[in-house]
Amino acid sequence: MKVSLCGAGVVSANCAKVLAGRAGISVSGPFGRADRERALKSGADVVVIATSSFLSEVGPDIHMAVDAGSNVITSAEEGAFPDAVDPALARELDAAARARRVTILGTGLNPGFVFDAMVLTATGVAWEVDTIRVERAVELPGFSAAILRRLGIGFTPQEFADGIDRGAITGHIGFPQSMRIVARRLGVALERIEPRIEPIFGERDHEGVHLAVTAGTSAGFIQHYIGYADGRPWFFADFTAHMDLAAAGTSPHDEIWIDGPTPVHLAIQPGLNPQIGSAAVIVNSLRRVVEAPPGWLTVADLPPATPS
Ligand SMILES: NC(=O)c1ccc[n+]([C@@H]2O[C@H](COP(=O)([O-])OP(=O)(O)OC[C@H]3O[C@@H](n4cnc5c(N)ncnc54)[C@H](OP(=O)(O)O)[C@@H]3O)[C@@H](O)[C@H]2O)c1
Repeated sequence: MKVSLCGAGVVSANCAKVLAGRAGISVSGPFGRADRERALKSGADVVVIATSSFLSEVGPDIHMAVDAGSNVITSAEEGAFPDAVDPALARELDAAARARRVTILGTGLNPGFVFDAMVLTATGVAWEVDTIRVERAVELPGFSAAILRRLGIGFTPQEFADGIDRGAITGHIGFPQSMRIVARRLGVALERIEPRIEPIFGERDHEGVHLAVTAGTSAGFIQHYIGYADGRPWFFADFTAHMDLAAAGTSPHDEIWIDGPTPVHLAIQPGLNPQIGSAAVIVNSLRRVVEAPPGWLTVADLPPATPS
């Protein structure tokens, strides 16, 4: 299998590391911004696009790779359920993929696993699903400076508020995508999603791998998203991210509660590492994407990602 990596950041570097140990796979890249067409026009069996979170930015690159006859896996959070952001672009790319008989998939650890694929797996042992709650706490030091700034790290209170207003600070992107993946699979009509984000300002300096954060600026944040169905809260997503979770009074963990007549509670301690986990889900999706029917699919349309 030929795989080409578009984007020369943390995700691509980790995918290259995992792929180095896999037999029968030849890898080209990672290719940075200036060289990305070498991946997109490579005609590889799968092009992995790990550049941006936003559909408007990865859309043209996905199109180029599809036109060259490649299946595409993108880590872009908005690519996990493209209909939620731009249904017209999603339809256009789905049609292009069907015409070229290739598959597009948006995945990673989140979205792509914790808040959707793992939730759906957990619902498999419930008799009925009344409500879903997912809680994740994640350490931030391993993220690139660009990602940390977009998430909202290293800002004064005023800068943080302005950044949220301007849309330059987003917190983690992907909860609406995960909720819609789960809702569609369970046949639930999601009416609206209420987002909330609160910064956590650091009491001391924090040293990340790629960014130093000074005391008094945002060292983390908490997000609460609630998805409503049938006029009531149905899906609760609670996410804490920090340069040092202990300073926020918690530790890395992932927990899922499926409430109903036969409740299910799944707890992962310590929580799944974002860098290790995302590269694993992407690489472990290569085969399922190559074998999938054509079109833009979600993780709910495919068998589980497995390392074979
Ligand atoms: N679904 C998931 O679970 C998941 C998991 C991890 C990451 N992600 C997302 O995947 C993306 C990549 O993550 P990462 O950690 O590898 O980021 P990163 O370390 O910041 O690297 C991003 C790479 O892509 C390039 N790039 C950024 N924006 C671009 C654009 N608009 N067009 C072309 N190239 C661009 C960067 O080039 P420059 O250095 O020149 O800017 C860099 O080479 C991020 O948006 C991240 O939020 C999703």
